[in-house]
Amino acid sequence: MTSHTIESVSQEHRVFPPPEAFASQASIGSREAYAALYERSIEDPEGFWREQAQSLRWSTPPARVLEWHPPFAKWFGGGKLNLADNCLDRHVASWRANKAAIIWEGEPGEVRVFTYRELLREVCRFANALESLGVRSGDRVGIYMGMVPEAAIAMLACARIGAIHSVVFGGFAAEAVRDRMNDAQAKCIVTQDGAYRRGSVVPLKLQVDKAVEQCPSVKHVVVVKRTHNEIEMKPGRDQLWSDLVEKASAVHVAPALDSEHPLFILYTSGTTGKPKGVMHTTAGYLLGAYLTTKYVFDLRDEDVYWCTADIGWVTGHSYIVYGPLSNGATVMMYEGAPNQPDPSRFWQIIERHGVSIFYTAPTAIRTFVKWGEEFPNKHDLSSLRLMGSVGEPINPEAWMWYRKVIGGDRCPIVDTYWQTETGSIVMTPLPGAIPSKPGSCSLPFFGISPKVLREDGSEAGVNEGGLLVIDKPWPSMLRTVWGDDERYKTQYFSRFPGKYFTGDGARKDEDGFFWVMGRIDDVVNVSGHRLGTAEIESALVAHPSVAEAAVVGIPDELTGQALVAFVTLKSHDKPSKPLNAALMEHVANEIGKFARPKEIRFADAVPKTRSGKIMRRLLRDVAQGKEATGDVTTLEDIGVLARLREHEEE
Ligand code: WTA
Repeated sequence: MTSHTIESVSQEHRVFPPPEAFASQASIGSREAYAALYERSIEDPEGFWREQAQSLRWSTPPARVLEWHPPFAKWFGGGKLNLADNCLDRHVASWRANKAAIIWEGEPGEVRVFTYRELLREVCRFANALESLGVRSGDRVGIYMGMVPEAAIAMLACARIGAIHSVVFGGFAAEAVRDRMNDAQAKCIVTQDGAYRRGSVVPLKLQVDKAVEQCPSVKHVVVVKRTHNEIEMKPGRDQLWSDLVEKASAVHVAPALDSEHPLFILYTSGTTGKPKGVMHTTAGYLLGAYLTTKYVFDLRDEDVYWCTADIGWVTGHSYIVYGPLSNGATVMMYEGAPNQPDPSRFWQIIERHGVSIFYTAPTAIRTFVKWGEEFPNKHDLSSLRLMGSVGEPINPEAWMWYRKVIGGDRCPIVDTYWQTETGSIVMTPLPGAIPSKPGSCSLPFFGISPKVLREDGSEAGVNEGGLLVIDKPWPSMLRTVWGDDERYKTQYFSRFPGKYFTGDGARKDEDGFFWVMGRIDDVVNVSGHRLGTAEIESALVAHPSVAEAAVVGIPDELTGQALVAFVTLKSHDKPSKPLNAALMEHVANEIGKFARPKEIRFADAVPKTRSGKIMRRLLRDVAQGKEATGDVTTLEDIGVLARLREHEEE
């Protein structure tokens, strides 16, 4: 057993079939319908994708489907299209012209609605504005904004003229903006005076001013006025968005761009290492975003669809902007924090706007659990019909809470597994066709061929933990790391030549369902058991007092590594010695004595990346009493680390 790459200790066996009322209405309504399409997509990928590509609007249909020179892929060669045209003009030419494309709610409470026609006009204006600044096809444009409609408009305007956008999450500081702009050699940055966050103003323009001092390539800064804090405007370089669009025509002819025209760069640091500029291109990415949104969310024209991600992450790119808009959906977009002015805010939004599809992250769900169910219980959430999760393995108990408290035991949950690099969802249940098991992302999406491998490249057995790869190219895969083909090769294709390595550990169960066990870097070896920390965390989260847990390994003379658990309690529970002992026992009972943590520390929060993933690398340092080393620029709340150390000294 000890030769396993990772040993699975999960005890989760619950299964929830698709509700009949849901399945009977769904676009893919049975396991057989899924299986037939899936088999076709794997047996005849070229035929399958040629057919699927017809759902996009092309100026010139593609002559070829795939050119694969491992690890470099080209999809839909010879084809020409415009992504913004697919998201906007196409719907404006239909009955959807006056349908709401974006319903936006600001943190202070105001609401703005853009119909498809209005959104097209705004995008055309800004496309013309960018061109008036000299931005051309292939130029890079930085977007450093909060969750305002102009952020989506700026992305679509770039896509329209063929400029490559690089969105930098508005929670990053000047250095992160500087490094990303320099790596991409951006010509222009779009920003805001400030962004609202939990009632205060984050001064974005100030950060841009600092960053741009050291970005010689940046010639223009465009500023949306949102918070009306004082800003300095540098003549010749800085322009107000409002001044530019006022002068700009609302008509803009979308040029036909090559299928492989670069669409965006998005930097991902993951939880380790120097940020990589993941590059996506036009047609394959769009098709992936379009198709997954359509089937995974079983999208219908009447839906109000809300993905709570920030536009600065890939989830915001694919599932706030490109996926839903290419489907002609109504997208809910919210500017602020979930607890502004109080922890009811999300539930209020669902009630007020009749949200029917809700897509969020495990970190948010665990926070809701911590705050308590009294907040969602005060609101009418009956408009919801489907819920999703993305970003980390979801702890089965958090999944159960989500299903019961938010979904009223009625809504299917899609646990969608994917990455910045995959461009769109690669594994997920289809809500009308595939049963869900809490904590499993279930089965591959069409055209995706995932495998769990042992270190030697052979396929792992049933329930044997191993390394998760995708062994065939797919349309929305990244094409390279910006400016660094070598890094693309070594990072993703060197471990198993010709196969894409995700960096995650996983196992496949007796039904062929996949269970992602977390980043392979987080595996801990205790007395010869190689354990994924996520499963031990899930055991802790299954205890009624625990909202969130982070488990790391530290060196131990006796066992090789020993486990240290950081635990955040639900707001009604208090740390105590007996609770500490009870939690140790709980893990020993749930998993086995070998997994009993050496130490449990109570913490009011654990450090996370800004996209909400637990940063175990930093916790390892804290657990060993070391200063945190390495890159902390993506850390959500630096104060968390300081507080964890204080506990140590108590
Ligand atoms: C993790 C976010 C388990 C995984 C779209 C992956 C998940 C990384 C899931 C990518 C899931 C994402 N179950 N793990 N449903 N979704 N992950 O690039 O470790 O921010 O490799 O993309 O998040 O994170 P990224």
